[in-house]
Amino acid sequence: MHGKDFDIRINTPHRIRFTRDAFCYENRLLVDLLKTNGQAKVIAFIDSGVAQAFPELESQVNDYLEHMPGFASRGTIVQAGGEGCKRDSSTLQAAWDTLENAGIDRHSYIICIGGGAYLDVIGLAAATAHRGIRLVRFPTTVLAQDDSGVGVKNGINAYGKKNFIGTFAVPYAVINDFSFLHGQPELTRRAGIIEAVKVALVKDAAFFRWIEDQCEKLTKLHPHTLEETVERSALLHAAHIAYGGDPFETGNSRPLDFGHWAAHKLEQLTDFELSHAEAVSIGIALDTVYSWKSGRLDEKSAMRILKVINKLQLPTWHASLEQKCAKGAREVFNGLEEFREHLGGELTVLLLRDIGKGEDVHSMDNNLLDECIDWLKLDADISVVR
Ligand SMILES: NC(=O)c1ccc[n+]([C@@H]2O[C@H](COP(=O)([O-])OP(=O)(O)OC[C@H]3O[C@@H](n4cnc5c(N)ncnc54)[C@H](O)[C@@H]3O)[C@@H](O)[C@H]2O)c1
Ligand SMILES: [Zn+2]
Repeated sequence: MHGKDFDIRINTPHRIRFTRDAFCYENRLLVDLLKTNGQAKVIAFIDSGVAQAFPELESQVNDYLEHMPGFASRGTIVQAGGEGCKRDSSTLQAAWDTLENAGIDRHSYIICIGGGAYLDVIGLAAATAHRGIRLVRFPTTVLAQDDSGVGVKNGINAYGKKNFIGTFAVPYAVINDFSFLHGQPELTRRAGIIEAVKVALVKDAAFFRWIEDQCEKLTKLHPHTLEETVERSALLHAAHIAYGGDPFETGNSRPLDFGHWAAHKLEQLTDFELSHAEAVSIGIALDTVYSWKSGRLDEKSAMRILKVINKLQLPTWHASLEQKCAKGAREVFNGLEEFREHLGGELTVLLLRDIGKGEDVHSMDNNLLDECIDWLKLDADISVVR
């Protein structure tokens, strides 16, 4: 037997840009970012929720693409976004059909404007058609701009599992256009801030202190404060992907998944009635209280974290935490097993030692988790009375 191990180095830039009104003719960010051989085709996919919130958008994008010197516009297509577009493969299939009909090739660019769910689907279409076409993502929700949109993953749900079919593919560029944020309903805009809280908790204590100081303004969705939060969070997420040593998640340690083992399960248990952001908020509250009750995190820090979540008017408890399976254990505990499966072997969950400092653990105690959930329920009841 003989052979050789080659060391393939993938040096891919991960371009993250921030702007406003990217499709105003005067804004040259997009056109200056793309390279052309004089005839590169460009096509834009738009999430219908965004198109509805910004009725001028489609014609504005069409206009912009038509006037990109050296590029051949293939126009725009609007499709329904939201979690529904990930539930089956019909949106993905329609996207492939569109790419084929438009003659999109490996020299072309795909632009995708939408929330995290739609970006996931079009990201998968872009990564797989012709084995990969350059994708420029325009995340349009707070959650997508401060977290998922700046990542390198895509996917659709299958076999009852989130993101069962998907790939890792670094987009050609991510453009966070702040003007999109303000079309989102207040509730979901505020909820998306939780991913910024999360990355601050695991990476950057100073950022968490800043969020605490800005809480009042953030709750009121003060535009500049929200945009600064989104930008700092996006850069922390992107830096972790680029420099964290595991961009394609081959290892077990997932600091950016703090609070997510419970969150993913709660989304599923509530049939997505709880949004990803709301579920993450509860998951973070649970793992914070667990970090405290297991003697890792001091009580004062735990209370500071819960206070920020409360001030942002995000949930720390939900009735689905009480759901029991036939054996009498809480259903949510199966989230740990699913998390372990997802990691492909050893369970690794990040807990907090301090604000800004995590610790990987490989098991969690169900009795202590029970106690933490009861504590959160009581605290939520007291908060209502308060
Ligand atoms: N790929 C990843 O790394 C990753 C990471 C975390 C989450 N996600 C995925 O992201 C999805 C959640 O994304 P989301 O929170 O961005 O929500 P979403 O994509 O589900 O969008 C929610 C709704 O808002 C609409 N919308 C989007 N932008 C809007 C705007 N600017 N104005 C008005 N309406 C708008 C959409 O049409 C949709 O109806 C989940 O599917 C989750 O699994 C992916
Ligand atoms: Zn998340």
